[in-house]
Amino acid sequence: MMGKRHFKVWRGDEDGGDLQDYQVEVNEGEVVLDIIHRLQATEAPDLACRWNCKAGKCGSCSMEINGMPRLSCMTRMSTFEESETVTVTPLRTFPVIRDLVTDVSFNYEKARETPAFAPPTDLAPGEYRMTQVDVERSQEFRKCIECFLCQNTCHVVRDHEENKQAFAGPRYFIRAAELDMHPLDDRTDRKEYAQQSQGLGYCNITKCCTEVCPEHIKITDNAIIPMKERVVDRRYDPLVWLGSKIFRRGQSHRELDQVGATGLPASELPARGDHSPKAEAERGVNWHRQVPRPQTASVDQNGRLPLTELTSENAAASSPFGDDVQFPLPSESLNYHHPRQGD
Ligand code: SF4
Ligand code: SF4
Ligand code: FES
Repeated sequence: MMGKRHFKVWRGDEDGGDLQDYQVEVNEGEVVLDIIHRLQATEAPDLACRWNCKAGKCGSCSMEINGMPRLSCMTRMSTFEESETVTVTPLRTFPVIRDLVTDVSFNYEKARETPAFAPPTDLAPGEYRMTQVDVERSQEFRKCIECFLCQNTCHVVRDHEENKQAFAGPRYFIRAAELDMHPLDDRTDRKEYAQQSQGLGYCNITKCCTEVCPEHIKITDNAIIPMKERVVDRRYDPLVWLGSKIFRRGQSHRELDQVGATGLPASELPARGDHSPKAEAERGVNWHRQVPRPQTASVDQNGRLPLTELTSENAAASSPFGDDVQFPLPSESLNYHHPRQGD
């Protein structure tokens, strides 16, 4: 494993560049990012690359290694044959800034466009309650480290700059799915939003995004396909259609949601895409949904969590201290004493 190995690394900027050859020493247990660092320390001190954690958790060291989108800090050199040339190139879907660093701001724009979590307006932070099964359902999507390998891989935008405006990409489909499954999200139109504004229809479920995800999130199976199925149910299922004709007098679900919540006809509602609080209030939210209501104030007037929160009958989960513990705890049970003021 020890010894010099042949590397080709793309060097250049937005005006162009090419692959440059390097013979670099490789040691037992090293990953591709180690080799990039060795190059920077020796013959290519101006080689640009982005990284932070070197632990597969920050998502910044994404690049293409022998054509495969990967995290360079998680790609062991032992996965290549000893005689194999390792070719390292920047992510292809995003504009190159320099060498292996690309401008991924496309993703942040799409993040900004995605409407944020919208809890019921009569619940304060700290009063949210949801069951463990709902937490676990969306936990898979919360594992995303925003490495954007899925965004880079998706053929809808990989070689089609013209699709970028209309297509948010798999990372934001999982965000929409997560919020769609969230019992406290009061927006009723996440699927419609994904279909109409995020370009869900462009996805033809090739599963390439799932294949490259370093967090093993089942992007296609658990987020995209369920959302697509529900969009199709709403629009094309003959039974749903018949039901809407019989029970809903021909109004679309969206119109129904809106008219039911606000009493306003769809023509008088705010423009689509306007997510300001005023527009949201006028458009209406799903007030009919049952959400658990806490019975104690979540914070006192100083903004502190009261101890009653931990002993409340409606606590979100069982007390980490055990059910037989009474508060306030006796001083001998404490393992931390707050220093006196002035000490
Ligand atoms: S499954 Fe859809 S989002 Fe994922 S890579 Fe294929 S087309 Fe893109
Ligand atoms: S879904 Fe997976 S591949 Fe896509 S950005 Fe998140 S961690 Fe990366
Ligand atoms: S350096 Fe953080 S994921 Fe690779």
